[in-house]
Amino acid sequence: MRKKMIITIDGPAGAGKSTVSKMLAKKLGYIYLDTGSLYRALAYKALKDKIILDDISALDSLCSDINIVLKNIDGQMKVYVDGEDVGDKIRTEEIGLTASKISAFAIVRQRLLELQREAGAEGGIVTEGRDMGSVVFPHADYKFYLDADPPERIKRRHKELLGKGNSPELQSVQKDMSARDEQDSKRDIAPLKPTSSSIIIDSTKLSVPEVVENIIQQMSDK
Ligand code: DC
Repeated sequence: MRKKMIITIDGPAGAGKSTVSKMLAKKLGYIYLDTGSLYRALAYKALKDKIILDDISALDSLCSDINIVLKNIDGQMKVYVDGEDVGDKIRTEEIGLTASKISAFAIVRQRLLELQREAGAEGGIVTEGRDMGSVVFPHADYKFYLDADPPERIKRRHKELLGKGNSPELQSVQKDMSARDEQDSKRDIAPLKPTSSSIIIDSTKLSVPEVVENIIQQMSDK
């Protein structure tokens, strides 16, 4: 039987990681794990409980009080916060930006580390985020870094938000995305960047199936 591999896909917001990872996981019969949803789950509770985002002791309590469970529903790991399926509720720009802010804190990253590793313990997983190849799964079988030009990423994120029932201005998506790019790539712990063994793919001019084909091709070439 073929080995059940760990495939990581890192990259900035709007690069197409989610749609690509989902399609790739389906093609391979693997589990799909979106680790951003874990950071968003913590952000969701932080906003609900109105905690001050840079208050370490408040973040510490948040991390110990929150009950986060991942459930495999039809091959996709869904996040439950204190028993609630948070689904599309965590897909707003406000939660994305809050997730980005709190993800710079060691205590937050530590809280989510084991959960992510457990999900990938048996392999057979496509997992996407910012530090999948660098920190969470440094021994992954294949590491991809998906990028796209900022105007294209902004356009995609805007379309995605509209599709989820939000109605943001293009300009505000642009502002939030550049704040997130800055926060995610400049933080001290686990900043977003390709590892020395990452295969970099620029998806600016590629469709989702083309990126997936590209990934499969690169895997068979190696
Ligand atoms: O992928 P996303 O947009 O849902 O992620 C939301 C934020 O969570 C992102 O801006 C930074 C943080 N994040 C992280 O620090 N590490 C990950 N592996 C995934 C997300």
